[in-house]
Amino acid sequence: MKMPNNFLFGAASASYQVEGAWNEDGKGVSNWDVFSKIPGKTFENTNGDVAVDHYHRYKEDIGLMAEMGLESYRFSISWPRIFPNGTGEVNEKGLEFYNNVIDECLKHNIVPFVTLYHWDLPQALEEKGGWRSQETVDAFVRFADTCFQAFGDRVRHWITFNETVIFCSLGYLSGAHPPGIEGDVKAYFQATHNVFVAHARAVEIFKKAGYDGEIGITHVFSPSFSIDNDPDNKFAEMHANEYATHWFYDPILKGTYPEYVVNGLEAKGFLPEWTEEELDLLKRTAPMNDFIGLNYYCPQRVMKNDSALVMAGGRENSTGRPGNPSFDGVYKTVMMDDKVYTKWGWEIAPDAFLEGMRMLKDRYGDIKIYITENGLGDEDPIVDGEIMDTPRIEYIESHLRAVKHAVQEGINVAGYYAWSVIDLLSWLNGYKKQYGFIYVDHKNGLARKKKKSFYWYQEIIATRAEDL
Ligand code: BG6
Repeated sequence: MKMPNNFLFGAASASYQVEGAWNEDGKGVSNWDVFSKIPGKTFENTNGDVAVDHYHRYKEDIGLMAEMGLESYRFSISWPRIFPNGTGEVNEKGLEFYNNVIDECLKHNIVPFVTLYHWDLPQALEEKGGWRSQETVDAFVRFADTCFQAFGDRVRHWITFNETVIFCSLGYLSGAHPPGIEGDVKAYFQATHNVFVAHARAVEIFKKAGYDGEIGITHVFSPSFSIDNDPDNKFAEMHANEYATHWFYDPILKGTYPEYVVNGLEAKGFLPEWTEEELDLLKRTAPMNDFIGLNYYCPQRVMKNDSALVMAGGRENSTGRPGNPSFDGVYKTVMMDDKVYTKWGWEIAPDAFLEGMRMLKDRYGDIKIYITENGLGDEDPIVDGEIMDTPRIEYIESHLRAVKHAVQEGINVAGYYAWSVIDLLSWLNGYKKQYGFIYVDHKNGLARKKKKSFYWYQEIIATRAEDL
């Protein structure tokens, strides 16, 4: 079987991870510009000041994407490039940059798929409370509306937020991302609720204005599976899925929060402060979501937590390995002897990917799905000057096969975006952890070079994955 003609083969990036030009053309300072410069926060104190200089090289990069046959490019908009202080006056130069990127994509018949928020919050808003604050919600809605108005004549695919669970949990529980707060469970749940409200308001504006196109959100997709059939561990599985998946997917797709979590939070005093109006908004806008974006890297293997610890880290904890207890100490994620892991301890499990998509279909029906990220973080071997990233090919091949299987089973998957199109800054792991089809030579003026996987994906796209 060939993948259907309207299935999009794409690849992705995010503004802070590729653009650089952190203080050029009127761009404001983002929370990451500040956080990454605090000594010890990132691997070898790397930051995105220059990143891979996509800001100046977008034409070359999009040209390479076109050569690869890429049908769609998912990228994000740096909010402080458009609103240097988060709100207030628009920076025209910022709009101009994204107009150029969009036009360059269209020139090459590449569908631009835009993420509005991929973690680089204007620092001015971070200082006013970030996602804990209503001011950030209001400012986001204005930012989203501005982007719809500026780019909505050419952009038909919009993602409001990337991975709420990650930027909120790493921001307020583990402290590994800005604002670097540890163990503030109340703030964590409040921030997630505020993000869902901001999403819902943006969706409503988009739909009311009648733009031609689709809008949705992208979530981490990391379904939990018990390590065995022990009832305590099965309970841990249920609990983990409720807190780490349903809490995020239900308010978007069902318009309500999962009762199990609401009851649990209420009992512990962690329930977000919300209004009836906000809860109505979630309910009203849920059916307006055109799709859900899934970022899938690995599942979670869980068991009951038998230690007194509560969560000390997370998936992106660059120092730690899995084995972290959940924030409430109920379960812990563990590594298993019979599973295969990447160098960074992320399990490679295409079967869990397919199983997870079935679980989603059971719970949320036929909602359209885009796989908005999937890929392998690795240190690619260079042999005689060629980047021989065979493990990446194997990883993507096995996961694309799972996607093909899902489509054949009638799961509504409409596109696949490999992470990432080009090597980029891996937030906490610097440039050491590579993901791209295009190599960036940091010792040679950031020169671009096609990896083995570049040619492989080119062939996959050209044949619409017929041979997978
Ligand atoms: C996702 C993010 O969480 O995973 C990306 O959306 C990120 O921005 C990717 O780069 C891989 O994570 P990491 O930590 O390996 O770069």
